[in-house]
Amino acid sequence: MSRLSRLRRRAVSRRQFVAGSAAAAASSALVGCAAPPAAPMSAPAGAHARGEERIRVGLIGCGGRGTGAASQALHADPATVLVAAGDVFMDRVESSLKHLSEDEEIKGRVQVAPEMRFSGFDAYKKVIEQCDVVLLAATPHFRPDHLRAAVEAGKHIFCEKPVAVDATGIRSVLASAEMARQKGLSLVCGFCWRYADADKETYARIHDGAIGQVVNMNTYYLTGNLGLKPRKPEWSDMEYQLRNWYYYTWLSGDHIVEQAVHSIDKISWAMQNAVPTRAIAIGGRQVRTDPAYGHVFDHFGVVYEFKNGARATHMCRQTEGCYSDNTDYILGTKGSAAINSWGPDEVFRDHSGKAYWKWDGERHDMYQNEHDFLFRSIRARDGHNDGVWMANSCMMAIMGRMSAYTGQAVTWEQALSSKEDLRPAKYEFGPLPTPPVAVPGRVKLT
Ligand SMILES: NC(=O)c1ccc[n+]([C@@H]2O[C@H](COP(=O)([O-])OP(=O)(O)OC[C@H]3O[C@@H](n4cnc5c(N)ncnc54)[C@H](O)[C@@H]3O)[C@@H](O)[C@H]2O)c1
Repeated sequence: MSRLSRLRRRAVSRRQFVAGSAAAAASSALVGCAAPPAAPMSAPAGAHARGEERIRVGLIGCGGRGTGAASQALHADPATVLVAAGDVFMDRVESSLKHLSEDEEIKGRVQVAPEMRFSGFDAYKKVIEQCDVVLLAATPHFRPDHLRAAVEAGKHIFCEKPVAVDATGIRSVLASAEMARQKGLSLVCGFCWRYADADKETYARIHDGAIGQVVNMNTYYLTGNLGLKPRKPEWSDMEYQLRNWYYYTWLSGDHIVEQAVHSIDKISWAMQNAVPTRAIAIGGRQVRTDPAYGHVFDHFGVVYEFKNGARATHMCRQTEGCYSDNTDYILGTKGSAAINSWGPDEVFRDHSGKAYWKWDGERHDMYQNEHDFLFRSIRARDGHNDGVWMANSCMMAIMGRMSAYTGQAVTWEQALSSKEDLRPAKYEFGPLPTPPVAVPGRVKLT
């Protein structure tokens, strides 16, 4: 089956959507602004015309992932229309919209008028005003504020990972997630493997005891370097850092939080969303030492300890010329699982090494799955909410960074109550010195 037919099969038919809209209109208080579906664009922001079919989508953070998410939102449901887009930089807004407008299937629903294209640090507020569903795909640092504003305004949300870069942000996200739950808003997060067909089935089987009780686990996110945007003379420090955000902890959380959090999330997933009691981590900056790469580490290793005695090790590295792997190895009392995200390949083996189960089902695009799920949830008015586990998984990754940067063992309570707050003194373009590279044993836990 072609991707197109799959998408069509999974996308809501127009008739189904209209039926859903009528039902939704009856309970708009429960589901927030997308029920009933959106007002025409000419209506005042926040107004909703009953029976009107469109769901207005707004994009915040118009980079690679945001553009992908907008495309998936438009493919997920024939009633979605992209009406507003915001980014700290206008060139990113324009390039994203250009890209989206080149897709024949959705270009008619890319309807972002010039006055609906916003830039600057407060672009998110203007986007949120215009839409019913907001896609949060900016640089991770800003996610807690963007999420809170979207929830306060009663919008349904797609929220990319990581959802915060420090414990201060995580506490904010947990509060926003609870507010979203109380308002009945749908909140789907971008931990895409949780929406991948093969992984969903594999982890469900693990939860059902297919390999016995999970006693040990190791996950890898071992990969190469990421790109660098050379500095232009007119760029301030703030602009350079925003354009190269991976390399600044305040913006990305460091690569254990930005990238490897997927594998750390899978540790929590395998442990049925348990959080660890303690983390002990090492890490450093050995190869990627040029100041152009900010101050982040290039490798980490963490051991997470769980209340039931289980342990999980995670390693991540961003260095060229080294072994690459993105597999989760899970040891159970009856067997083991190897889940290779890049294979892709998911297999269970007995303790003699003989395979006894392997995923051989269909693999739909997991990013599309997320949006199909989100828009189904909105229509079903079920208030699906990924908030708590998405925040906890990110907190686990932050906890690993805290332990590596300080050289200390860090308990869950210490991590979650940490006063660390990576926000700069002000959000404005101008000088912004790069913090020193963390030195374990000298950096203090805050
Ligand atoms: N789930 C996945 O598999 C996956 C894959 C890639 C990226 N991501 C996540 O998606 C997010 C975006 O990553 P990306 O690869 O698209 O990066 P990107 O650099 O391509 O895009 C990020 C965009 O956010 C913008 N931005 C920065 N600060 C902003 C602000 N205050 N308000 C609005 N926009 C702002 C940037 O200018 C940039 O255009 C990150 O959190 C990343 O970890 C997830």
